[in-house]
Amino acid sequence: MHAAMITGVSRGLGEALAVELLVRGWNVLGVGRKSGARLAGERYRFVDLDLTQVGKIDATLSAPLADIRSSRPSSVVCINNAAVAGPIGVGGRLSARDIAASFEVNLAAPAAIANVFCRVFADGVEDRRIINVSSGAAQTVLPGSAMYCAAKAGLEMLTRALAAEQGAKGVRVITLRPGILDTDMQAFMRSQAEDVLPTAGLFKGFHERRQLVAPNVAATKIVEKIVLARVEQGRTYSYADL
Ligand SMILES: NC(=O)c1ccc[n+]([C@@H]2O[C@H](COP(=O)([O-])OP(=O)(O)OC[C@H]3O[C@@H](n4cnc5c(N)ncnc54)[C@H](OP(=O)(O)O)[C@@H]3O)[C@@H](O)[C@H]2O)c1
Repeated sequence: MHAAMITGVSRGLGEALAVELLVRGWNVLGVGRKSGARLAGERYRFVDLDLTQVGKIDATLSAPLADIRSSRPSSVVCINNAAVAGPIGVGGRLSARDIAASFEVNLAAPAAIANVFCRVFADGVEDRRIINVSSGAAQTVLPGSAMYCAAKAGLEMLTRALAAEQGAKGVRVITLRPGILDTDMQAFMRSQAEDVLPTAGLFKGFHERRQLVAPNVAATKIVEKIVLARVEQGRTYSYADL
């Protein structure tokens, strides 16, 4: 038996990854505020959790993860996929509450989820992986998206630090920058006015040049190259590596 926990399965890449793994016979635990319309069946379970509620993560996920462990999987993967693109706007125009929510969902929640995963799967399963879904924004400065950039940069350091702690034989922790995907997140970015998001033109250009990849296409490649194939401890994988 193979099992995956995926955050943000209501739509976009998270839902596509869950569908792809269910089709391949995996057990999937979806985590988020709502489940995806295409997700159902005996091997699918959904846990309702708003990832701004970081303090609830341990109590909410410990039991479902322990259930996965007791079913003795030969491989288990945690995909920290859920994220928010907001708040959009340059410094001075943001609310502190929106800034906090961005770091909760994009950085604190993945850290807390990785923590409970490493505790429950400290041993006993041969192939254990955490895949932190990041973005080119971890490296490329996007004025108007500073909080998203900062959180993704932090997420990539989280990957490297956890990978160093786990060593060669522990849980494999890797970063994935999934590329430019045809999801609500891209639509949200290209819908912004340039006086609010100075880089809005970049996102409009991706769309006009038809550079967006369908999430199900990306999900198939991610499962084959990042979930199933051997991966290098601590590495950052980009769409070009898939
Ligand atoms: N799209 C791209 O071009 C692109 C590029 C680079 C990286 N990425 C990364 O790829 C991943 C997937 O992005 P996407 O494009 O599929 O995004 P998306 O379509 O906007 O979906 C985001 C997912 O995160 C969930 N989520 C947001 N806030 C949440 C919260 N408070 N609690 C629980 N779940 C929450 C959403 O659930 P709700 O429906 O409940 O809001 C949704 O399922 C993200 O990590 C993103 O940063 C995307």
